[in-house]
Amino acid sequence: MTVSTQQLAPADLITTSIRTIQQGQSASGAYIASPTFEQYAYGWLRDGAYCAMAMDVVGHSSSSADFHQWVISVLHRHEEHITALTQLAANDESIDEGLLLPTRFHLNGRTELEHGADEWPNFQLDGYGTWLFAFREHIVHRDTPLSLREAGAVRLAAEYLASTWQLPCYDYWEEFGDRRHTSTLASIAAGLRAASDLVNEKAWRLKAQRVLRDIEELCTDGERFTKGPDDDRVDASLLSLATPFNLVALDDRRMVATVRAIDEQLTTSSGGVRRYVGDEYYGGSPWLLLTAWRGWHARRQGDEQAHARARDWVRLSAGHDGLMPEQRVDEPQLPEMVAVWEARWGTAADPLLWSHAKYLLMETKSELDGRGVVAR
Ligand code: BGC
Repeated sequence: MTVSTQQLAPADLITTSIRTIQQGQSASGAYIASPTFEQYAYGWLRDGAYCAMAMDVVGHSSSSADFHQWVISVLHRHEEHITALTQLAANDESIDEGLLLPTRFHLNGRTELEHGADEWPNFQLDGYGTWLFAFREHIVHRDTPLSLREAGAVRLAAEYLASTWQLPCYDYWEEFGDRRHTSTLASIAAGLRAASDLVNEKAWRLKAQRVLRDIEELCTDGERFTKGPDDDRVDASLLSLATPFNLVALDDRRMVATVRAIDEQLTTSSGGVRRYVGDEYYGGSPWLLLTAWRGWHARRQGDEQAHARARDWVRLSAGHDGLMPEQRVDEPQLPEMVAVWEARWGTAADPLLWSHAKYLLMETKSELDGRGVVAR
């Protein structure tokens, strides 16, 4: 992709972002990850939860409501799996892989296996935690209490996480399936807390504390948070510990050092933010959603300069039509890998719905910004 010389005005970028998310929402309520990139023609819980948060902050709560109802029906479809899995975990028996839930679904809510598709690294736990977090944010603004069906789905998601949280799984970037990951644990802790609030179940708050203990004891190098217990690298998704999950304070010394490492090690000369050092996917280029995430975090910190720098980079990286790709491949860390991925899957996803979601979250002040660290 080339950097656009003719930028849309910020207000138009906001309108385009809302429209792109709306157009990417299927009648079922699922958000497609990207409408034009074949590999992403599915509904991911992770991407979708951020789209729902964004739609809530820009006042399009009927869109987020539809997404949440879609997830709720998906969870109820898997009720038997989750119950069986919870029982196995409670008896300390090993969990049958067939009971683990996928990270993405067909837009109609069916799992890929039911359609016989190629295998995807589907066992990822973070999406379920991020969904619970987004659902609580959504509910905070609604006057009506949870229906039985909604409360049931919250319980299913929380039971699932409480039974599986210690298992190695694929990470935010669908890699390293034999490890545990800090950002995944953060999503799980945030999700369990949200579930505990939503259905007033103290056990999940205690479990969230237990997960946090692993983050604090295993996922730092003493100075800052690390990508995982077995990986000292910094990963841009570590921003989630504070923004939006509020598991640690914005001015927590380890968080400040983590953000400094993101700025020093993952930020390109033009100001875009990469996923992690050594990333090969489309050359490990800077991503719009990560740069917007950095900008969102900076705005919450009151760091206007860092916010403006990230915001301007994302605005400039949108196409002339205002559409936002996943990444900008003109600044790869491994240039030879761009062509490898383009030969395999075509040009990188464009537009990507959660690039637009993170852009909206960076641009729009909301109650999500103001929340502080929740007392344990
Ligand atoms: C990213 C995931 C994302 C998926 C769909 C993958 O390449 O690594 O984080 O959920 O694309 O957007």
